[in-house]
Amino acid sequence: MPGYIRKMRIDILTIFPQMFEVPFGFGIFKRAIYNGLVIINPVNIRDFTHDKHHTTDDYPYGGGAGMVMKPEPIFEAVESIKGNVEDKEAELPIILLTPQGRLFTHKIARELAKHPRIVLICGHYEGVDERVVENLATDTISIGDYVLTGGELPAMVVADAVLRLVPGVLGSEESPLEDSHASGLLEYPQYTRPADYRGLKVPDILLSGNHAQIAKWRREQIIKRTLEKRPELLDKADLGVEDKQLVQRMMHTDKKE
Ligand code: ADE
Repeated sequence: MPGYIRKMRIDILTIFPQMFEVPFGFGIFKRAIYNGLVIINPVNIRDFTHDKHHTTDDYPYGGGAGMVMKPEPIFEAVESIKGNVEDKEAELPIILLTPQGRLFTHKIARELAKHPRIVLICGHYEGVDERVVENLATDTISIGDYVLTGGELPAMVVADAVLRLVPGVLGSEESPLEDSHASGLLEYPQYTRPADYRGLKVPDILLSGNHAQIAKWRREQIIKRTLEKRPELLDKADLGVEDKQLVQRMMHTDKKE
């Protein structure tokens, strides 16, 4: 895949580094790490505090509920990472996970997967000192319009979506191209054996061996599903003439039903 690098490293700044041992310790990512295709490096923000209690948060100036993450340990943790970046000239995305960030999409995952290295910062409490947002982070990302207790789960989501695009991670380089959202549309339905499970049958066309007809059916399913479940995606998608006709026909049939 042009533009994609062969190896990727993600440094994750967090106050809970152990949380990252589980999601990347199994299956695909365990193998990718073992094969040296990806490096996931949780960095404990607490290691960059200088007080006896290793304080990472403090009261908000101006008053109000909750605590705010202090800037100094986060700045120092990022500086320690930058210190060991091989190519000093290369742009290093430093991404703060926050509900106020730009909404994460497959397109953003693809953009990030082009970098050999990215840094993710997990926020907590009522938020992170604004100087981190303004002067340290190069980007902010939200994984959805809801609020979680911290940026760790969002960082895992982003890391998963990005790292599976690194060639070789999924085993077959073709598979990420067929994902839902990879083309801006939802994926067609998949079936496996048995062909008849409790009377629930796999569509005949898939058993026909007629590859041209199967491809046609799958394309129709892609359009149908997207139209039914996420119609707004069709407005943004790059559709060919045949696809557009299909959409028109399906919308027309819909209205008659
Ligand atoms: N931190 C808390 N909620 C979040 C969200 N929805 N996305 C990213 N970071 C978050």
